[in-house]
Amino acid sequence: LMPSNPKNDNSFLERANCRAKGGASGFKVAILGAAGGIGQSLSLLMKINPLVSVLHLYDVVNTPGVTADISHMDTNAVVRGFLGQQQLENALTGMDLVIIPAGVPRKPGMTRDDLFKINAGIVRTLCEGITMYCPHTVVNLISNPVNSTVPIAAEVFKKAGTYNPKRLLGVTMLDVVRANTFVAEVLGINPIDVDVPVIGGHAGTTILPLLSQVKPACSFTAEEINYLTNRIQNGGTEVVEAKAGAGSATLSMAFAASKFADACLRGLRGDANIVVCAFVDSQVTELPFFASKVRLGRAGVEEFYPLGPLNEYERSGLEIAKKELGQSIAKGTYFITKA
Ligand code: NAD
Ligand code: LMR
Repeated sequence: LMPSNPKNDNSFLERANCRAKGGASGFKVAILGAAGGIGQSLSLLMKINPLVSVLHLYDVVNTPGVTADISHMDTNAVVRGFLGQQQLENALTGMDLVIIPAGVPRKPGMTRDDLFKINAGIVRTLCEGITMYCPHTVVNLISNPVNSTVPIAAEVFKKAGTYNPKRLLGVTMLDVVRANTFVAEVLGINPIDVDVPVIGGHAGTTILPLLSQVKPACSFTAEEINYLTNRIQNGGTEVVEAKAGAGSATLSMAFAASKFADACLRGLRGDANIVVCAFVDSQVTELPFFASKVRLGRAGVEEFYPLGPLNEYERSGLEIAKKELGQSIAKGTYFITKA
């Protein structure tokens, strides 16, 4: 039991509530799946983000402990925990940004699509909650298979009449984070100075790094391009195998998700030139969803950048990516429309 404030005049609660009102002074963020491998580290990183005034931690297990722990950090955000479906309403009400890392992770030998069976239903339930309790929020969807869960979320929102394509973003930032890291290694420079666009989707060959568009401008040998493309496309599997049954990327993912959420919040605040790669409702290709560079603003996704000139290697990679991506999107859409 939490000891009561010795002042016993509710001043702590008043101050907390005052801070919690946020508005000009910060955003309200919920993490669904907050007690998981990604969720715990992500909760920590969002608690130290100065743009966050209220942080809601929701899961079906263990949120009291995670919340008590995180809430002792002496940073501005007021932290509240929510446990189980009956507390989803309070977890979601009033949120500006909802980040979803809920769902099962891969084990060695599995594809991300093997997670569909369990995670599709989890994402549907959580998104139904969003349509009821915070229909205007920005959503950052992390749960795999992202290529299908984003279309699932879109259909749930459409069904409820609350779909705003500018506010639904599949998180592919980890592919960019990995690409920056591996490219920097090859170039022998600091990854902070590297920017690699990664387009397509978030699974195997649907992950397409555009190595011809790396900043700073540079060139690679055919061997380097093969190595880098394969390593970026299989980065997730590399971690799954190294963890040997104990799950998939959590720490680098929490880092990537926190970078991505921070970009969304800065966009919502009205900062200029916030550009990220994200898997979104898109007309950049003939597919209904596609990951590419977008500019974020107060409305969410405000501008799409063209893919730019692709070399032959990238053009053939794009054709392969689009084929698999189309099937994964259709599978997600059908999961909701069939009912
Ligand atoms: P984890 O098992 O450690 O944590 C998942 C959490 O979700 C658990 O705490 C679980 O209780 C919770 N959960 C399950 N059902 C829920 C529900 N209905 N409502 C709320 N919470 C629920 O897994 P993890 O390693 O944190 O990975 C989570 C998901 O993120 C997996 O699907 C994984 O594949 C995916 N992932 C995506 C990326 C990406 O780049 N987009 C990267 C890494 C992992
Ligand atoms: C990743 O890229 O690390 C995640 O999608 C998790 C996984 O299953 O590979």
